Amino acid sequence: MDGNGRWAKQRGLPRAAGHQRGVEAVRTATYAARDLGVKMLTLYAFSVENWQRPKTEVGALMGLLELYLKKELAAFVRDGVRLRTIGRTDELPAGVQKHLRMSIEETKHFTDYTLVLALNYGSRTEVVDAAHAYASAVIAGKEKTDDRSWATFNRYLNTSGLPDPDLIIRTSGEQRVSNFLLLQAAYAEFYFTPVLWPDFTKADLAAALADYAKRERRFGLTSDQVRPSANAATR
Ligand code: FPP
Repeated sequence: MDGNGRWAKQRGLPRAAGHQRGVEAVRTATYAARDLGVKMLTLYAFSVENWQRPKTEVGALMGLLELYLKKELAAFVRDGVRLRTIGRTDELPAGVQKHLRMSIEETKHFTDYTLVLALNYGSRTEVVDAAHAYASAVIAGKEKTDDRSWATFNRYLNTSGLPDPDLIIRTSGEQRVSNFLLLQAAYAEFYFTPVLWPDFTKADLAAALADYAKRERRFGLTSDQVRPSANAATR
Protein backbone atom coordinates (compact mmCIF):
# COMPACT_ATOMS: atom_id res chain seq x y z
CA MET A 1 0.00 0.00 0.00
CA ASP A 2 2.58 2.51 -1.19
CA GLY A 3 2.20 6.21 -1.89
CA ASN A 4 0.45 7.63 1.18
CA GLY A 5 3.32 10.03 1.86
CA ARG A 6 3.43 11.31 -1.73
CA TRP A 7 -0.36 11.68 -1.82
CA ALA A 8 -0.13 13.96 1.23
CA LYS A 9 2.91 15.89 -0.04
CA GLN A 10 1.16 16.66 -3.35
CA ARG A 11 -1.53 18.40 -1.30
CA GLY A 12 0.77 20.15 1.15
CA LEU A 13 -0.52 17.93 3.97
CA PRO A 14 1.39 16.05 6.69
CA ARG A 15 2.27 12.42 5.90
CA ALA A 16 -0.20 11.25 8.55
CA ALA A 17 -3.02 12.72 6.45
CA GLY A 18 -1.93 10.43 3.63
CA HIS A 19 -2.09 7.43 5.94
CA GLN A 20 -5.52 8.54 7.11
CA ARG A 21 -6.75 8.52 3.50
CA GLY A 22 -4.92 5.21 3.15
CA VAL A 23 -7.27 3.74 5.75
CA GLU A 24 -10.23 4.75 3.57
CA ALA A 25 -8.58 2.94 0.67
CA VAL A 26 -8.17 -0.11 2.93
CA ARG A 27 -11.95 -0.12 3.51
CA THR A 28 -12.63 0.27 -0.20
CA ALA A 29 -10.19 -2.49 -1.19
CA THR A 30 -11.48 -4.90 1.45
CA TYR A 31 -15.00 -4.88 0.05
CA ALA A 32 -13.99 -4.37 -3.59
CA ALA A 33 -11.90 -7.54 -3.47
CA ARG A 34 -14.75 -9.50 -1.95
CA ASP A 35 -17.25 -8.16 -4.52
CA LEU A 36 -14.86 -9.11 -7.33
CA GLY A 37 -14.64 -12.72 -6.13
CA VAL A 38 -11.35 -12.63 -4.25
CA LYS A 39 -11.33 -15.02 -1.27
CA MET A 40 -8.34 -13.61 0.59
CA LEU A 41 -6.72 -10.20 0.66
CA THR A 42 -3.43 -9.49 2.41
CA LEU A 43 -2.52 -5.88 3.11
CA TYR A 44 1.07 -4.93 3.93
CA ALA A 45 0.26 -2.31 6.56
CA PHE A 46 3.48 -2.08 8.60
CA SER A 47 6.85 -3.69 7.97
CA VAL A 48 9.58 -4.50 10.48
CA GLU A 49 11.62 -1.76 8.77
CA ASN A 50 8.85 0.84 9.25
CA TRP A 51 9.79 1.25 12.96
CA GLN A 52 12.76 3.31 11.70
CA ARG A 53 10.44 6.04 10.39
CA PRO A 54 10.10 9.24 12.47
CA LYS A 55 8.51 8.56 15.87
CA THR A 56 5.56 10.82 15.08
CA GLU A 57 4.75 8.88 11.91
CA VAL A 58 5.01 5.50 13.66
CA GLY A 59 2.76 6.85 16.42
CA ALA A 60 0.24 8.12 13.88
CA LEU A 61 0.17 4.77 12.09
CA MET A 62 -0.34 2.82 15.31
CA GLY A 63 -3.10 5.24 16.34
CA LEU A 64 -4.84 4.83 12.98
CA LEU A 65 -4.51 1.08 13.19
CA GLU A 66 -6.07 0.91 16.65
CA LEU A 67 -8.91 3.23 15.63
CA TYR A 68 -9.50 1.22 12.46
CA LEU A 69 -9.70 -2.07 14.38
CA LYS A 70 -12.00 -0.53 16.99
CA LYS A 71 -14.37 0.87 14.36
CA GLU A 72 -14.24 -2.02 11.91
CA LEU A 73 -14.99 -5.02 14.12
CA ALA A 74 -18.77 -4.58 13.93
CA ALA A 75 -18.57 -4.42 10.12
CA PHE A 76 -16.33 -7.53 10.00
CA VAL A 77 -18.87 -9.45 12.08
CA ARG A 78 -21.84 -8.09 10.07
CA ASP A 79 -20.21 -8.87 6.73
CA GLY A 80 -18.53 -12.18 7.54
CA VAL A 81 -14.93 -11.02 7.18
CA ARG A 82 -12.41 -13.24 8.95
CA LEU A 83 -9.40 -11.30 10.22
CA ARG A 84 -5.90 -12.75 10.48
CA THR A 85 -2.47 -11.27 10.87
CA ILE A 86 1.06 -12.14 9.84
CA GLY A 87 4.11 -10.62 11.50
CA ARG A 88 5.49 -10.20 15.01
CA THR A 89 2.28 -8.76 16.44
CA ASP A 90 3.52 -9.30 20.01
CA GLU A 91 5.78 -6.26 19.50
CA LEU A 92 2.89 -3.92 18.62
CA PRO A 93 1.44 -1.46 21.18
CA ALA A 94 -0.79 -3.13 23.80
CA GLY A 95 -3.94 -1.34 22.58
CA VAL A 96 -3.45 -2.57 19.01
CA GLN A 97 -2.79 -6.11 20.27
CA LYS A 98 -5.95 -6.06 22.36
CA HIS A 99 -8.14 -5.07 19.41
CA LEU A 100 -6.41 -7.55 17.14
CA ARG A 101 -7.07 -10.38 19.59
CA MET A 102 -10.76 -9.40 19.87
CA SER A 103 -11.23 -9.08 16.11
CA ILE A 104 -9.46 -12.36 15.34
CA GLU A 105 -11.44 -14.21 18.01
CA GLU A 106 -14.83 -12.81 16.98
CA THR A 107 -14.33 -13.49 13.26
CA LYS A 108 -12.49 -16.83 13.37
CA HIS A 109 -15.54 -18.87 12.31
CA PHE A 110 -16.07 -17.05 9.00
CA THR A 111 -14.97 -19.05 5.96
CA ASP A 112 -15.96 -17.10 2.82
CA TYR A 113 -13.52 -14.19 2.93
CA THR A 114 -10.31 -13.49 4.85
CA LEU A 115 -8.52 -10.20 5.38
CA VAL A 116 -4.90 -10.69 6.41
CA LEU A 117 -3.07 -7.71 7.88
CA ALA A 118 0.71 -7.86 7.64
CA LEU A 119 1.77 -5.99 10.79
CA ASN A 120 5.37 -5.70 11.94
CA TYR A 121 5.95 -8.16 9.12
CA GLY A 122 9.10 -8.91 7.16
CA SER A 123 9.98 -12.06 5.24
CA ARG A 124 13.48 -12.36 6.67
CA THR A 125 12.21 -12.07 10.25
CA GLU A 126 9.53 -14.61 9.43
CA VAL A 127 12.08 -17.10 8.09
CA VAL A 128 14.33 -16.66 11.13
CA ASP A 129 11.34 -17.21 13.44
CA ALA A 130 10.26 -20.27 11.43
CA ALA A 131 13.76 -21.79 11.45
CA HIS A 132 13.98 -21.20 15.21
CA ALA A 133 10.59 -22.78 15.88
CA TYR A 134 11.36 -25.69 13.55
CA ALA A 135 14.72 -26.36 15.20
CA SER A 136 13.05 -26.24 18.63
CA ALA A 137 10.43 -28.73 17.42
CA VAL A 138 13.14 -31.08 16.15
CA ILE A 139 14.99 -30.88 19.48
CA ALA A 140 11.74 -31.54 21.34
CA GLY A 141 11.18 -34.62 19.15
CA LYS A 142 8.05 -33.17 17.53
CA GLU A 143 9.59 -33.11 14.04
CA LYS A 144 11.91 -35.60 12.36
CA THR A 145 15.52 -34.55 11.73
CA ASP A 146 15.48 -36.03 8.22
CA ASP A 147 12.27 -34.31 7.07
CA ARG A 148 13.35 -31.79 4.45
CA SER A 149 9.93 -31.18 2.87
CA TRP A 150 8.60 -27.74 2.05
CA ALA A 151 5.16 -28.81 3.33
CA THR A 152 6.58 -29.29 6.84
CA PHE A 153 8.67 -26.10 6.96
CA ASN A 154 5.76 -24.11 5.50
CA ARG A 155 3.77 -24.85 8.67
CA TYR A 156 6.27 -22.77 10.67
CA LEU A 157 5.83 -19.62 8.61
CA ASN A 158 3.47 -16.83 9.73
CA THR A 159 1.22 -17.81 6.82
CA SER A 160 0.67 -21.35 8.09
CA GLY A 161 -2.71 -22.55 6.85
CA LEU A 162 -3.02 -19.77 4.29
CA PRO A 163 -2.63 -20.28 0.53
CA ASP A 164 0.24 -18.67 -1.38
CA PRO A 165 -0.63 -15.34 -2.99
CA ASP A 166 -1.74 -15.57 -6.64
CA LEU A 167 -1.31 -11.88 -7.39
CA ILE A 168 0.78 -9.19 -5.69
CA ILE A 169 -0.13 -5.59 -6.44
CA ARG A 170 2.20 -2.71 -5.61
CA THR A 171 0.91 0.82 -5.93
CA SER A 172 2.67 4.17 -6.49
CA GLY A 173 4.94 3.13 -9.37
CA GLU A 174 7.56 1.41 -7.21
CA GLN A 175 8.72 -1.94 -8.58
CA ARG A 176 10.17 -3.63 -5.52
CA VAL A 177 9.18 -6.53 -3.27
CA SER A 178 10.35 -4.91 -0.01
CA ASN A 179 10.64 -8.03 2.13
CA PHE A 180 7.03 -9.08 1.47
CA LEU A 181 6.08 -12.79 1.35
CA LEU A 182 9.34 -13.66 -0.40
CA LEU A 183 8.94 -17.42 -0.07
CA GLN A 184 5.18 -17.49 -0.54
CA ALA A 185 5.51 -15.40 -3.71
CA ALA A 186 7.60 -18.08 -5.44
CA TYR A 187 4.97 -18.39 -8.20
CA ALA A 188 2.96 -15.21 -7.64
CA GLU A 189 2.12 -12.87 -10.49
CA PHE A 190 3.08 -9.22 -10.00
CA TYR A 191 1.17 -6.10 -11.00
CA PHE A 192 2.57 -2.60 -10.68
CA THR A 193 0.42 0.50 -10.95
CA PRO A 194 1.36 4.19 -10.74
CA VAL A 195 -1.81 4.90 -8.70
CA LEU A 196 -0.99 6.11 -5.17
CA TRP A 197 -2.57 3.94 -2.48
CA PRO A 198 -5.08 6.56 -1.20
CA ASP A 199 -6.40 6.86 -4.78
CA PHE A 200 -6.67 3.10 -5.36
CA THR A 201 -10.28 2.27 -6.27
CA LYS A 202 -12.39 -0.76 -7.06
CA ALA A 203 -11.83 -0.02 -10.77
CA ASP A 204 -8.05 -0.15 -10.21
CA LEU A 205 -8.40 -3.51 -8.50
CA ALA A 206 -10.64 -4.78 -11.29
CA ALA A 207 -8.00 -3.69 -13.83
CA ALA A 208 -5.32 -5.60 -11.93
CA LEU A 209 -7.49 -8.71 -11.81
CA ALA A 210 -8.29 -8.44 -15.53
CA ASP A 211 -4.57 -8.26 -16.29
CA TYR A 212 -3.93 -11.25 -14.03
CA ALA A 213 -6.68 -13.25 -15.79
CA LYS A 214 -4.81 -12.96 -19.10
CA ARG A 215 -1.64 -14.55 -17.75
CA GLU A 216 -0.63 -18.17 -18.13
CA ARG A 217 0.70 -19.57 -14.88
CA ARG A 218 3.03 -22.47 -15.50
CA PHE A 219 4.54 -23.28 -12.09
CA GLY A 220 7.70 -24.58 -13.77
CA LEU A 221 5.84 -26.64 -16.40
CA THR A 222 5.60 -26.00 -20.14
CA SER A 223 2.73 -24.18 -21.80
CA ASP A 224 1.67 -27.47 -23.48
CA GLN A 225 1.48 -29.15 -20.13
CA VAL A 226 -0.71 -26.57 -18.45
CA ARG A 227 -3.02 -25.90 -21.41
CA PRO A 228 -2.82 -28.95 -23.71
CA SER A 229 -6.05 -28.29 -25.60
CA ALA A 230 -5.42 -24.56 -26.21
CA ASN A 231 -1.91 -25.20 -27.47
CA ALA A 232 -2.90 -28.16 -29.67
CA ALA A 233 -5.01 -25.78 -31.77
CA THR A 234 -2.00 -23.65 -32.68
CA ARG A 235 0.41 -26.49 -33.48
C1 FPP B 1 3.56 3.12 2.51
O1 FPP B 1 3.41 4.39 1.92
C2 FPP B 1 2.51 2.91 3.50
C3 FPP B 1 2.71 2.55 4.79
C4 FPP B 1 4.05 2.32 5.35
C5 FPP B 1 1.59 2.41 5.75
C6 FPP B 1 0.34 1.81 5.21
C7 FPP B 1 -0.71 2.05 6.20
C8 FPP B 1 -2.00 2.37 5.93
C9 FPP B 1 -2.56 2.38 4.57
C10 FPP B 1 -2.95 2.73 7.03
C11 FPP B 1 -3.03 1.81 8.20
C12 FPP B 1 -3.40 0.43 7.84
C13 FPP B 1 -4.53 -0.21 8.20
C14 FPP B 1 -4.71 -1.64 7.81
C15 FPP B 1 -5.62 0.42 8.95
P1 FPP B 1 4.52 5.50 2.20
O2 FPP B 1 4.17 6.18 3.46
O3 FPP B 1 5.87 4.88 2.16
O4 FPP B 1 4.32 6.46 0.97
P2 FPP B 1 5.46 7.25 0.19
O5 FPP B 1 6.33 6.20 -0.46
O6 FPP B 1 4.69 8.05 -0.82
O7 FPP B 1 6.19 8.11 1.17
